[in-house]
Amino acid sequence: MKRTKINILTRLETTPGQVLVKGWVRTKRDSKEFSFMEMNDGSCLKNIQIIANNNLDNYLEIQGITTGTSLIVIGDLVESPGKGQKWEIQASSVEIVNLAPESYPLQKKRHSDEYLRTIAHLRPRTNKYGAIFRIRSEMAFAIHKFYREKGFKYLTAPLITGSDCEGAGEMFRVTSLSPSDVQAAGKMDFTKDFFGQEANLTVSGQLSAEMFALSLGDVYTFGPTFRAENSNTSRHVAEFWMLEPEMAFCDLEGNMDHGEELVKYLVAHALEFCEEDLSLFFQFVDKSLPGLMDTLLNQEFARLSYTEAIKILEKSNQKFEFNVAYGIDLQSEHERYLAEQYFKKPVFLTDYPKGIKPFYMRMNDDEKTVAAVDLLVPRIGELIGGSQREERLDRLENRMEEMNLPRDPYWWYLDSRKFGSVPHAGFGLGFERFLMMITGVTNIRDVVPFPRTPGNVDF
Ligand code: 4AD
Ligand code: MG
Repeated sequence: MKRTKINILTRLETTPGQVLVKGWVRTKRDSKEFSFMEMNDGSCLKNIQIIANNNLDNYLEIQGITTGTSLIVIGDLVESPGKGQKWEIQASSVEIVNLAPESYPLQKKRHSDEYLRTIAHLRPRTNKYGAIFRIRSEMAFAIHKFYREKGFKYLTAPLITGSDCEGAGEMFRVTSLSPSDVQAAGKMDFTKDFFGQEANLTVSGQLSAEMFALSLGDVYTFGPTFRAENSNTSRHVAEFWMLEPEMAFCDLEGNMDHGEELVKYLVAHALEFCEEDLSLFFQFVDKSLPGLMDTLLNQEFARLSYTEAIKILEKSNQKFEFNVAYGIDLQSEHERYLAEQYFKKPVFLTDYPKGIKPFYMRMNDDEKTVAAVDLLVPRIGELIGGSQREERLDRLENRMEEMNLPRDPYWWYLDSRKFGSVPHAGFGLGFERFLMMITGVTNIRDVVPFPRTPGNVDF
């Protein structure tokens, strides 16, 4: 007999008949004649009720089943006379795969997110975290689906790199040198290292994506990126997934149009394909989520310049922790004020001062600002960061010199501006921040299977 998933069994159109399910016991209660078990196999939010009659051979054993125990059940799927479920399984066989001891940490009571982070290996067995990680899986698929439909090519950018894309110096070093060798030499001798030079984990696949956009047209990367920022906030992790589209023959407007289309598509996909899991967040995590989803889907995102945004913030009469003045890097409190309170919808901010942005952004005619764009969304702040790229060789070289960037490691990047350079643009969307936005989860650690943060690399 073939194994059946609970998400198939609990659908209304299911037909009765014999089934085989494998999963874990969530709760159990016994009467004189029966054991009732709520079983979940991880395929969906709903459990299936198993009814084991006392005429089963191993009924004594069945009575000893505890929460967390793994089972293989064969039985008849029948319409349930009880309340709360449409279907139940009248078991003809209940095989205990592994009996969980009473010390199983996920007993019936509610647990705090903080506690569940300490058992990140077990939290996906709870309703909330099961739902989060099913949504995460579905949304990763949706990203690939969107780009396939649009004819973009998927690029896997290297995770180990010799260049710092963002120039923020927040990189994790990759080395094969042993600490004792380094100690003996008194310093790191990179010529003796694996690559013969300094190497790091990538902070962004953008530079690779640019080379491929200038070859294949429209491309995207979607993969892990790493940042050694020592910021212990609820929106930063050291290892996160970034989606980075890069489009040839594209300017800043086209970049924003693309970002808006992407976000709307992903939200629509979530509503259609994660309906049951999302309902948990709508009900128990944040009641304003459906309204936000509606805004994301149906309202045109605002578009304005950094300079205009600074004026709005200065006039706002808000008490911000960080003072507002032209030239500052906006803090999350400023970004959230603009998106949540002022515009009450997502906002594209463009044309930031060059001093707070990386070397590759296209210089505007005013020579003071660059063609940057960030998308700010309610509750999260920055969801997307991107720009039109500097495609003019002389301008790019000037900018690198101004910023004291060495030319040598970027020779290949500069080459792309010599041979068939074209205007191009792209951005990075933080996948975890997107998941936070659609689930209402307020701590990024709770949408990452095993989060990496300063001082924490457990699991
Ligand atoms: O704005 P960022 O730094 O942009 C880049 O890295 C560009 N090279 C992308 C590009 O143009 N191709 O990062 C992009 C997004 C941010 O808007 C944010 O959503 C997310 O990545 N992000 C983080 N998410 C979680 N933890 C962190 N430490 C993050 N840092 C950035
Ligand atoms: Mg940014």
